[in-house]
Amino acid sequence: MSDFATRLMAWQRQHGRHDLPWQNTRDPYRVWLSEIMLQQTQVDTVIPYYLRFLVRFPDVAALAAAPLDEVLALWAGLGYYARARNLHRAAQAVMSEHGGRFPATAALLTSLPGIGRSTAAAIASFCYGERVAILDGNVKRVLCRHFGISGFPGERAVEQQLWALAESLLPETGLEIYPQAQMDLGATLCTRSRPRCEACPLSESCHARAHGLTASLPAPRPK
Ligand code: ADE
Repeated sequence: MSDFATRLMAWQRQHGRHDLPWQNTRDPYRVWLSEIMLQQTQVDTVIPYYLRFLVRFPDVAALAAAPLDEVLALWAGLGYYARARNLHRAAQAVMSEHGGRFPATAALLTSLPGIGRSTAAAIASFCYGERVAILDGNVKRVLCRHFGISGFPGERAVEQQLWALAESLLPETGLEIYPQAQMDLGATLCTRSRPRCEACPLSESCHARAHGLTASLPAPRPK
């Protein structure tokens, strides 16, 4: 197993977040809902929305059967309303095309509206233990800094390099926690501004830390 993954997972066990409302479940409906809400919104903001949503729509069948207006009303304030429309359409697709059960692999999950490659991988890892890489904004930042990747991560070639790197670092076991470990590191220590390198389990091997580049990696969009 890569040293990167080993140290990250050991850190997660001790210092990561373990009691978020969408953890400690392997219900793909709950994990999917949380991942969609968390795509563009902070954890603290998401929590009350997530809990209210589950009270009104406890499962994918309830969500699929609801009028879109009601879904949008519960989403009001979270922003990026395309997420709510896609959520509703995806719930209907799960009911009509998958017999009410979420597709069981990351590849199949990407066929649902609003589920991109990284979100599909997060759901498949958390719920099914599938060995697939995630690559969201937090993970991109961690990888660019740690491995000294200097290109703009929004550029296609750089993004492909990051996907390949993320795949090469995957552990053999522990896939249910590895994505959370990466997300937690990016959200709590390897933050965009003022990262807390002194507390980071990966700091000894971090390129950006060694070369004083944490403020300039990941690279901003070229002008
Ligand atoms: N951001 C995206 N997914 C997340 C998760 N599962 N926990 C915390 N933050 C996240």
